[in-house]
Amino acid sequence: MIDVLLGLQWGDEGKGKIVDYLAARYDIIARFQGGPNAGHTLYVDGQKVVLRTIPSGVFQSHCLNLIGNGVVIDPVALQSELTSLVSIRPDVTSRLFLSQKAHLILPTHRALDAASEAAKGADKIGSTLKGIGPAYMDKTGRNGLRVGDIMNKDFNKKYEQLKQKHIAMLRQYNYDVQWEEWESDFFEAVEYMRSLQIVNAEYWLDNHLKNGKKILAEGAQGSMLDIDYGTYPFVTSSNTIASGVCNGLGIAPSRIGEVFGISKAYCTRVGSGPFPTELDNEIGAVLRKAGNEFGAVTGRSRRCGWIDLVALRYTIMLSGVTQIILTKADVLDGFKELCAGIAYNINGTETNEFPFDICTAELNPVYQKFEGWEKEISSCNTFDELPQSFKEYCNFIEQYLGTKIAYISNGTGRNQLIVRSNK
Ligand code: GDP
Ligand code: IMO
Ligand code: MG
Repeated sequence: MIDVLLGLQWGDEGKGKIVDYLAARYDIIARFQGGPNAGHTLYVDGQKVVLRTIPSGVFQSHCLNLIGNGVVIDPVALQSELTSLVSIRPDVTSRLFLSQKAHLILPTHRALDAASEAAKGADKIGSTLKGIGPAYMDKTGRNGLRVGDIMNKDFNKKYEQLKQKHIAMLRQYNYDVQWEEWESDFFEAVEYMRSLQIVNAEYWLDNHLKNGKKILAEGAQGSMLDIDYGTYPFVTSSNTIASGVCNGLGIAPSRIGEVFGISKAYCTRVGSGPFPTELDNEIGAVLRKAGNEFGAVTGRSRRCGWIDLVALRYTIMLSGVTQIILTKADVLDGFKELCAGIAYNINGTETNEFPFDICTAELNPVYQKFEGWEKEISSCNTFDELPQSFKEYCNFIEQYLGTKIAYISNGTGRNQLIVRSNK
């Protein structure tokens, strides 16, 4: 069986920290989608590390780490990430495996991302500009270059063909990006990649599963950024929900076991797009400060708001989440009153279904209010020690979502976690 861990909101739910913790119980951690748009923060011996393409199992020394075919890899970003990790964990490359079928992000993909966003003007997605969208477009357009291609003699020729296509597209955008400067780094990084362990990942995983190994699939981004089910078009370009594991790793649905869904005890979003429970006010600013809500990749301010149970029930349904992990509970310390979104009022009609026209509808969230607490949650080690009003908040969330909150994270450290179920 392969278990899955994914974000239930708009990303940055704390996946890195939790995977690093859970990895103690797994033999392999496998990324199944996304690319260096992800920023997963871990604290290793008190030192902050942000992982972008490399799975968050690298700091558990028994863990193997796979970058699956559903991921898009920027060789330059991968090389720089690996080089800095080697200084902390010298054995990291020996425990890292790349799927032959993962697609490559070219310098011109990054240029196209910038050109496309600039052309959108005020309607821009707020992309991380890492070339993610253009790389996935070439994948579905059947033009892409894959990791396995770097071993073939005609790689440079194929690269040149794709680059010429991109140059023509950039001309149409009439957008000037100095991507040529990035080309020599790209080829140097491709050469570096040739020294890494490139595998036929579907068979590699199948063999490990047959040998009884425990595998955890690590999601990037969050379910509300899913290309099909998220707040389209303000989404990323991959399937971030559990079905993405099947496509992104070559795993049959019948082999999926537990699905851990992560949500903050409140909610954030970085980039443009609808966010029904957003607090574009003083309370939002307090959350941002207390939660240190600044992007791990771009440093941008994250938009903050109350937890949105309508959206969470939707994303739990989409992925068949079996256990919830509630993170950043400590950030809510000190609030006199908290709210949770329990329905949407759309043009005078209440619904608790996530609507199709989220981007255009006149929508007001309906809130349930809760009493805050005085005690510092970060000092608690068990559920019993938690303040009564926080327990009531949790109980309400569990009941509304019909899913158990199995873990509560109350700080950035690996072990700042209240474990209620150890399945
Ligand atoms: P990811 O993309 O889902 O891995 O999340 P990010 O790393 O982008 O953002 C989560 C941020 O919250 C990081 O800075 C973490 O160190 C931090 N964090 C994770 N869990 C907790 C928690 O329980 N409490 C607090 N205060 N911070 C947390
Ligand atoms: P992790 O894995 C939060 C957002 C961007 C933008 C939209 C599209 O750290 O949770 P893209 O670069 O994919 O074209 O951007 O998606 N976004 C994320 N937001 N966390 C992430 O990853 C994100 N990856 C992309 O801000 O709105
Ligand atoms: Mg992040």
